[in-house]
Amino acid sequence: MASNKELLAIREAATPRGVGTQTTVFADKAKNAEIWDVEGNRYIDIAAGIAVVNTGHNHPRVVAAVKAQLDRFSHTCFQVVPYDVYVRLAERLNSLAPGDTPKKTMFLTTGAEAVENAIKISRKFTGRSAVIAFGGAFHGRTLMCLALTGKVVPYKAGFGPFPAEVFHVPYRIDYHGVTVEDSLAALENLFKSDVEPSRVAAMIIEPVQGEGGFYQAPAEFLQALRRLCDEHGIVMIADEIQTGFARTGKLFAMEHSGVEPDLMTVAKSLAGGFPLSGVIGKADIMDFTDPGGLGGTYGGPPLSCAAGLAVLEVIEEEKLCDKALAIGESIRAWATETQAEHDCIGDIRITGAMCAIEFVKGGDANSPDADLVKRVAAEALANGVIFLTCGVRGNVIRFLPPLTIEPELLDEALAVLRNAIVAVKSRG
Ligand SMILES: Cc1ncc(COP(=O)(O)O)c(C=O)c1O
Repeated sequence: MASNKELLAIREAATPRGVGTQTTVFADKAKNAEIWDVEGNRYIDIAAGIAVVNTGHNHPRVVAAVKAQLDRFSHTCFQVVPYDVYVRLAERLNSLAPGDTPKKTMFLTTGAEAVENAIKISRKFTGRSAVIAFGGAFHGRTLMCLALTGKVVPYKAGFGPFPAEVFHVPYRIDYHGVTVEDSLAALENLFKSDVEPSRVAAMIIEPVQGEGGFYQAPAEFLQALRRLCDEHGIVMIADEIQTGFARTGKLFAMEHSGVEPDLMTVAKSLAGGFPLSGVIGKADIMDFTDPGGLGGTYGGPPLSCAAGLAVLEVIEEEKLCDKALAIGESIRAWATETQAEHDCIGDIRITGAMCAIEFVKGGDANSPDADLVKRVAAEALANGVIFLTCGVRGNVIRFLPPLTIEPELLDEALAVLRNAIVAVKSRG
């Protein structure tokens, strides 16, 4: 088999730089929370393919479901000849989504497509055009999703112009001095200075910001947004693409607040590593569009829908919500202890197993240390653990292990990360 170096040379010659990769090793095989590269080196995976394999790499139940579906057929196009796994998964998700209002679900393939469709559905339903999103948000890389995204470099810079009628307000981030009141005041101001609420079709929010830095929206914030949306007839969209499917200790992160969104976008861990996304929403809103207005050739592929049904069974049977909470508590204990020794850890954020530590200089929230984060993540990788970074300032290390990770592997990964912090700091 070719070496990492040989494959890297091909990658550099054959694929564009814009599709950046966080590591320069090439995967050969993976099992649960471990990946082996083409040279046989083993890595503990604390990225889970960016929160995709919550059920671990190659969960036997998921693999068996996909193999069984592959023996039946792999593609008919749902809009030509529909199939059982699509409608059964939709039915299941409708019953699991937060709130009592009857739901309907449509499937696509990527998270960005789900967000695009949620906006389309909201515009059709309301007959309005404007959309409100939040600073630091990440909703995907298509042009509408980029318009909604609240981070310029590397996502938006140079790719404009973006679709019009998108407005941003600050997300509540205590650590950076933005309170719930500040955020709500900015919204009220937006309605006075930029767009009248009667022109707003939708408001889209991540219940815990992902790429933005793992900041959680508290229940009172989401409840206040719900009230505002109700008052003005605005469709409330919860983007659960990164937070969904037991990651935060609930099946959906919105459950922490008791708020029922009108629409929810889901993707990533829904199908345990197979491409699948969806919009789950209140039936009257979802049904407003006439046949043909929604869909796509590959929307809801049969292999992925079969995987999705297996993932939901695994989450329930293996009690992955409880496991997410336990993982979060282990990481909290480790991070608190590490912070006591290293003032470069400015903030610790734990929502189930969606955890992050924010690196700053001299304990000062306003002095982000992105360089340290880059070097620490590289050092951890050199010692066999894959960590992802994030944050609008690039100064956050995020923890997204498979929820099925063996506790001793998690401990090993955390020990490597602490050693990496010590090693990098000692080099100055
Ligand atoms: C909250 C959120 N929304 C949307 C997306 C876009 O999903 P995809 O990369 O599958 O298009 C992501 C991806 O990271 C995400 O975290």
